[in-house]
Amino acid sequence: MNFDLTEEHLMIQESAKDFALNEIAPSAVHRDKTAEFPAEIVKKMGELGFMGMMVPPEFGGAGLDTISYVLAMIEISKVDASVGVIMSVNNSLVCYGLEKYGSDFVKEKYLIPLAKGEKLGAFALSEPEAGSDATKQKTTADKDGDYFVLNGIKNWITNGTTADYVLVMATTNKELAHKGISTFIVEKGTPGFDHGVQEDKLGIRSSDTCSLTFQNCKVPATNMVWEEGKGFNFAMNTLNGGRIGIASQAVGIAEASLEAAIKYSKERKAFGQTISNFQAIQFMLSDMAVRVDAAKLLTLKSAALKDAGKPYYKEAAMAKLYASKVAVQNALDAIQIHGGYGYVREYLVERYLRDAKITEIYEGTSEIQKVVIARALLDNK
Ligand code: CAA
Repeated sequence: MNFDLTEEHLMIQESAKDFALNEIAPSAVHRDKTAEFPAEIVKKMGELGFMGMMVPPEFGGAGLDTISYVLAMIEISKVDASVGVIMSVNNSLVCYGLEKYGSDFVKEKYLIPLAKGEKLGAFALSEPEAGSDATKQKTTADKDGDYFVLNGIKNWITNGTTADYVLVMATTNKELAHKGISTFIVEKGTPGFDHGVQEDKLGIRSSDTCSLTFQNCKVPATNMVWEEGKGFNFAMNTLNGGRIGIASQAVGIAEASLEAAIKYSKERKAFGQTISNFQAIQFMLSDMAVRVDAAKLLTLKSAALKDAGKPYYKEAAMAKLYASKVAVQNALDAIQIHGGYGYVREYLVERYLRDAKITEIYEGTSEIQKVVIARALLDNK
């Protein structure tokens, strides 16, 4: 077992860190307040290869491994978790699925611009009555000659108003329950496809989240991804990789909280000395650091398994479950160390807590991760 990162990994980590500090950090506080979407930043990330990191170069991507993706996601989320989730959805939930399951036509027409970052993608599985219980899809797709006609509502869609292409899970055969679900690519501007208003969220405020509606929305049959009836498997398989992305986002927030807490504890004086001299603070910092390392190792392990072509869904669920908990706990501890200053916007730690909470909810709640892990254990996988 070798814990050293390669030269290439270190280079990617460094370039993501530079980009995050120079291009993302200056506007992060402003965008948290205004909930403005970071369109220019996302465009530049596309030019640098951050939007299709694991896609082979022949399909417009950077051709890197999942470890590289984790390292870049951590650096970017450390500075702004809103940008982290925009990047994660495009990479893990959209590009990955199209590369693995898309036809030549789909790859040529949709994957290439998405991987180059010229276009942005979204992933639409959740519905008003199908969140954790994702098999209960009500959105329908009825065959009509060379088209499918989509009707239904999707909820909580990251990149919902901004995405050029949305992957939509819809039922093509109700009789077959989850085996009757299929995946379609719907282009922005298709008649019958619309979006709701941006959600006014607690955290990750400059990412764009909304509902989507489909009313007699005609989509060419060639825009079906994989085979008819494979849409639920498509969603589950892509979400396994998505969970590695969200675990990385959570590690980034946890690490940012630790660094902020160390810095503040060395500056703030109480009882005639810096508070870093007090064991109460030192113990908190130690616990925070152990948690960051453990979460990072779980996340990198799941990425290494994926890169090795081995099963990784249980490990991805473990990484997301643990890293998201750590993100929330570290943000809470960072606030505690900052005292009253941690509770106001002058310091960044209150945003870390607001941003951290969603990592325990989206791409499968912590409870769903436990279901996935327990089933794998009981099935001896
Ligand atoms: N990986 C691969 N396949 C999986 C899987 C996994 N982790 N979990 C389930 N499946 C497969 C099963 O093998 C089964 O396939 P077959 O029928 O082909 O054998 C199929 O899915 C159905 O599985 P179950 O019978 O276990 O179904 P269930 O209803 O009992 O449980 C669930 C399924 C695990 C709870 C699933 O519904 C789930 O993961 N729910 C959470 C959904 C989720 O993560 N939503 C996130 C929304 S996307 C989002 O947040 C994006 C964003 O914008 C940020």
